[in-house]
Amino acid sequence: MKGIILAGGLGTRMHPLTKITNKHLLPVYDKPMIYYPLQALVNAGIKDILIVTGGNYAGDFLRLLGNGQEFGLKHINYTYQEGEGGIAAALSLAEFFADKDKICVILGDNVIEKNIQKAVKTFEGQKEGAMIMVKEVPDPQRFGVPVLKGEKIVKIEEKPTSPQSPYAVTGIYLYDNRVFDIIKTLKPSGRGELEVTDVNNAYIEKGQLMWEVLDGWWTDAGTFESLLRASQLVAETGANKMG
Ligand code: DAU
Repeated sequence: MKGIILAGGLGTRMHPLTKITNKHLLPVYDKPMIYYPLQALVNAGIKDILIVTGGNYAGDFLRLLGNGQEFGLKHINYTYQEGEGGIAAALSLAEFFADKDKICVILGDNVIEKNIQKAVKTFEGQKEGAMIMVKEVPDPQRFGVPVLKGEKIVKIEEKPTSPQSPYAVTGIYLYDNRVFDIIKTLKPSGRGELEVTDVNNAYIEKGQLMWEVLDGWWTDAGTFESLLRASQLVAETGANKMG
């Protein structure tokens, strides 16, 4: 299994903090944001990792992380996304890197408490399809929200005004290699992006989307409020064990 961290986009939502740096390099308590998804992949046993970055400060990722020695890695792969065409657009840049393997994708602004190794192992044993991780949140309207029928997700709605469940689809996605063919069929959404929610809905249509409830706390850190919350959670309980 290969790991992909999506840290592209321009972070304009967080001006002026992101005027002179990349959002994923901002501090979450005592570490730069990008450390958390990177450590999450490493803790799950994934060592072959690609970081998709973008914007004006992409070089700073290399200066900060190098080949990932601090994380016990021998090498980190990097690629560059022009503009902010969406999460699925950023993921499409990883096709050459995935090279037919299954992938574990994590958004660069997601911070988790517990190890995702169990889900990664379960997905490794699965022949094909995709797996998402959901988490109950007080404000599902900020996220992708699953619509459930019994134990089955029948649809995911992106930022619905009336959420059909209390769950957020977290930014951790496990895909087989067909994800890249699915992305090629996508059309930009109302906000002009290729949406990861449309990717997941395509797997639902094939009857191939598995889901699990994520263990431990989860937060994004892509707004001023959630960045503060992420720092507080890390300060109080510690994140996914840092090496
Ligand atoms: O955090 C989980 C949520 O992330 C999901 O519940 C939503 O379904 C999903 O659409 C996404 O929602 P956001 O609106 O919070 O995504 P945002 O545009 O903030 O992007 C999140 C990360 O994805 C960002 O930190 C870097 C990466 N990204 C995003 C865009 C738009 C890219 O790499 N390239 C991009 O063009």
